[in-house]
Amino acid sequence: MSEPSAGEPTKPPLKGLVLSGGAGTRLRPITHTSAKQLVPVANTPVLFYGLRAMVEAGVTDIGIIVGDTRDEVMAAVGDGSQLGARVTFIHQEQPLGLAHAVLTAADFLGDAPFVMYLGDNLLQGGITELVHEFRHGDADASILLQRVADPSSYGIAELEDGRVVRLVEKPKEPKSDLALVGVYLFTHSIIDASRSISPSGRGELEITDAIQHLIDRGRRVDPHVVTGWWKDTGRIGDMLEANRLILDVMPHRIDGDVGEGCVIEGRVAIEKGARLVRSSVRGPAIIGAGALIEDAYVGPYTAVSDGVVVRRAEVEHSIILSGSRIEDLPARVESSLIGRDVVVERTDAQPRALRFMVGDSSIIGLL
Ligand code: G1P
Repeated sequence: MSEPSAGEPTKPPLKGLVLSGGAGTRLRPITHTSAKQLVPVANTPVLFYGLRAMVEAGVTDIGIIVGDTRDEVMAAVGDGSQLGARVTFIHQEQPLGLAHAVLTAADFLGDAPFVMYLGDNLLQGGITELVHEFRHGDADASILLQRVADPSSYGIAELEDGRVVRLVEKPKEPKSDLALVGVYLFTHSIIDASRSISPSGRGELEITDAIQHLIDRGRRVDPHVVTGWWKDTGRIGDMLEANRLILDVMPHRIDGDVGEGCVIEGRVAIEKGARLVRSSVRGPAIIGAGALIEDAYVGPYTAVSDGVVVRRAEVEHSIILSGSRIEDLPARVESSLIGRDVVVERTDAQPRALRFMVGDSSIIGLL
């Protein structure tokens, strides 16, 4: 980095802007009833990882953009004090794009520089260094980039001699594989840029276009290629992968009740009030408060939320949300995302048949 990073900062403290609206269509049916940003990764809502990263970086004045799922998000976050933040909720009537979200937050942001964090993104290593460098440098924007295998699913940056020359949102024929990570640092110049652009083909005011507007006017946009892992948890595969990455570094602790004869292997977190009866848990795995694991096996990379029952069943590499019951299954459950209060069980009822009551957009894989 060419910028000096010691000495007096050139910018005032950053505010935070976290985006927690959006429909979460790629995570249906879970998102029919729940905000995608509240789906838990290792039993903590995705959104909380971004909020914590901000607080760690000294960004505590945080605006959260909320949409249709605002009640649920507000209930989960409260006033932010549990995370050491002061949170202002900002209602975006319709999900009209990331630059539209910036405009919706214009009053909250004022003329402060800010870090914008997409609430379904997870970034290893936090943002502390990035915030420090941005405050001490002259850039108008700092964008995070990472190479991806499927560039047409992201905003893509083209670099020349280490400078950003072009940004394209979800290009059909990508000229680069450097995706925009959902974490951006801006001065308030992005607000004017967001006012100057027109909606894209998908009808949204794209932040990608607003940043391009800055570049076209000779403003300085610094690229940072992120070396640690990054996950946009918008799809089930990414969600399970994020769960795997977080469980891999979670501390081992047994606060629950582990009955005689149970086998615990590897890195496992068992919360207070959880009970294990004649069962095996092979980590990395987390078992939430009040969960009951009985005559069962919970395998690596599984997050069992509060109050879940797994009885005479085997579960591995899965996320099971609170209040669900998995019972008497003839085969192992794997690579699954199971919503709240779901029942998956084997019954002896006649006639012998498969019986479903399944919400819209659900996916069932049978043996
Ligand atoms: C958004 C941005 C895109 C960025 C991505 C990162 O896309 O528009 O530029 O690469 O987040 O997660 P979305 O996931 O909202 O379609």
